[in-house]
Amino acid sequence: MGQCGITSSKTVLVFLNLIFWVEDEVDNSIQKVYNEYNGTYPDAASRAIDYIQRQLRCCGINNYSDWENTQWFKQAKNNSVPISCCKANLSNCTGTMSHPLDLYAEGCKVLVVKKLQEIMMYVITAALAFAAIQLLGMLCALVVLCRRSGDPAYEPLITGGTYA
Ligand SMILES: *[C@@H]1O[C@H](CO)[C@@H](O)[C@H](O)[C@H]1NC(C)=O
Ligand SMILES: *[C@@H]1O[C@H](CO)[C@@H](O)[C@H](O)[C@H]1NC(C)=O
Ligand SMILES: *[C@@H]1O[C@H](CO)[C@@H](O)[C@H](O)[C@H]1NC(C)=O
Ligand SMILES: *[C@@H]1O[C@H](CO)[C@@H](O)[C@H](O)[C@H]1NC(C)=O
Ligand SMILES: *[C@@H]1O[C@H](CO)[C@@H](O)[C@H](O)[C@H]1NC(C)=O
Repeated sequence: MGQCGITSSKTVLVFLNLIFWVEDEVDNSIQKVYNEYNGTYPDAASRAIDYIQRQLRCCGINNYSDWENTQWFKQAKNNSVPISCCKANLSNCTGTMSHPLDLYAEGCKVLVVKKLQEIMMYVITAALAFAAIQLLGMLCALVVLCRRSGDPAYEPLITGGTYA
């Protein structure tokens, strides 16, 4: 059982590392993805950005000012962020920075990391639950096997275990 305890705390450490790894990974790649945004000829990454900004109600990496540093913003030259930054029920919003109150105030990075970690926690919880059920099943099988065994060689072991 001591062996089991060591193994499971190691497993938990691995999972914790995964959680932090998500944060590092998002940190490293989100700037690159934003730099490649192309609203005119949207590729998968651009559509993903629009989707995330709408779904998570966020704009930019840390805030909407981040758009100023992107290639897309510099090319458009109209002081606008993508429409996906517009708050959901403002039909007149064009994404212009001169109406900052129309835009989502929160940046997307924190929210994306939170969302991914949430999903990961679900997966990890499910995996641990599954492992626990399997372990329980194995213990039950072991008990049944030992009890049914007619081999007298097992008897001293069981009796010894009970009295110990
Ligand atoms: C956005 O964040 C930057 C630093 O991360 C800050 O300098 C800037 O004032 C912020 N803009 C707004 C509109 O909050
Ligand atoms: C978007 O894609 C088109 C076609 O590939 C290209 O001409 C344009 O420069 C791109 N815009 C940005 C901001 O990358
Ligand atoms: C600014 O330019 C972009 C790209 O040309 C365009 O998609 C967007 O609608 C423009 N926004 C405004 C407010 O004119
Ligand atoms: C926009 O929708 C939210 C809830 O979805 C609501 O609380 C808010 O009052 C709405 N704003 C406007 C201007 O309609
Ligand atoms: C859109 O309408 C709201 C209120 O109806 C106003 O506060 C906002 O400034 C308008 N935005 C633009 C870009 O005209």
